[in-house]
Amino acid sequence: MRIAVLSRKRTLYSSKRLIEEIKKSGHVPVVLDPLNFDIIVGNGAQQINYSRKKLKHVDSVIPRIGASVTRYGTSVLRQLVYMGIPSTSAPLGITIARDKFRCLQVLTKSGINVPRSILVRNPVNIEKAIKKVGGVPVLIKLLRGTQGVGVIYIDSVQAASSTLETLWSMGKQLLIQEFVVESRGTDIRSVVVDGEVVASFRRVAKIGEFRSNIHKGAIGEPVELTEEQKDVAIRSAAALDLGVAGIDMLESSDGVKVIEVNASPGLQGIERASQINVAEAVVDFAAKIVKKNVRI
Ligand SMILES: Nc1ncnc2c1ncn2[C@@H]1O[C@H](COP(=O)(O)OP(=O)(O)OP(=O)(O)O)[C@@H](O)[C@H]1O
Ligand SMILES: [Mg+2]
Repeated sequence: MRIAVLSRKRTLYSSKRLIEEIKKSGHVPVVLDPLNFDIIVGNGAQQINYSRKKLKHVDSVIPRIGASVTRYGTSVLRQLVYMGIPSTSAPLGITIARDKFRCLQVLTKSGINVPRSILVRNPVNIEKAIKKVGGVPVLIKLLRGTQGVGVIYIDSVQAASSTLETLWSMGKQLLIQEFVVESRGTDIRSVVVDGEVVASFRRVAKIGEFRSNIHKGAIGEPVELTEEQKDVAIRSAAALDLGVAGIDMLESSDGVKVIEVNASPGLQGIERASQINVAEAVVDFAAKIVKKNVRI
C-alpha cells in the first residue's frame, strides 16, 4: 500500500519515524508537502495536483499539518478525503484543535471537563470576567498559541487589564482561564490512536516554570493512567473526530480537566518517555482505514 504522510519536511522526527514504520510494515511511504498541492474545482469537476502534475494514487493519508499551514493544509486534506482517500484524522477536527476556545467548546458540548474559561472582547468588565473563572491567578491564552508561547500567568486584575489591553490592541484573540494550582507545573499527555490510548507520559515543568512544554525545558516521565483519565482521553479524541490525537490533561482537585487536544502530536517526547512504538500504531491505523478500489 502507498501511505502518504502530509508533512512539510521528511526530516522532522515524527515524519521520519512514520516513514520508517511504513517501510517496516511493508508499505510504501509517500511524503507530500501540503504547500505543493493545488486544487481545482468548478463546472462539476474536481482535481488535485501535486507539483503541478496529477497526484499519483495513495491509499491513505496521515496528516502532519503544522500550525503555520493549518488553513492550506486542511483544504488539501479535505480535498483528498472528498476524492475518497481516507485520512487518519478528519480535517475539521484539525481546524477545531488549532483554536483553543473552539476546542474547549466542542469538548464541553461532549461532556468533557475543561478548566473554567471565558472568551471576552470587552475592556470594561475584566474584573467580572476574572471572577467568573474563579478569581486570580488566571492564565491568559492566545487562541492560536503553541509550544507554551502565548500563555501568560496573571496574578492581579491590574496586570490582566494592561495585558488584555495590549493584546487586544494588537488584534490578538484570547481567552482567560482558571489556573489549576494543584497541577503544579505538570500535565499528562496521552496519545490516542483509533479510539485507544496507545501511550502516555507526564510532563514536569522545570523549576520556576508553570508551563510543562518540552520546548520550555520540561522533562517527561512515565505515567499509568487511571480508568477515568483513559476514558476522558478517548472521548476527547472522538469529540474532534481525530483518529490520532494528543490529549493534554491536568489533574485537578475535582478530577481530570482537558486543556488541549493536539491534532499532530509530536512522537519524540512520548516515544522516549513511554518506550512505546507510537508511530507503528499510527501506521497500523492508516493501513486499517484503506478502502478497496479507490482510484483518483
Ligand atoms: N489552566 C491551567 N492551569 C495550570 N496550568 C496550565 C493551565 N493551562 C495550561 N497550563 C500549563 O501551561 C502549559 C501550556 O499551555 P497550553 O497547552 O494551553 O498551551 P501551548 O502548550 O502553548 O499549546 P500547544 O500545546 O498547542 O503547543 C501546559 O502544558 C500546562 O503545563
Ligand atoms: Mg500544550
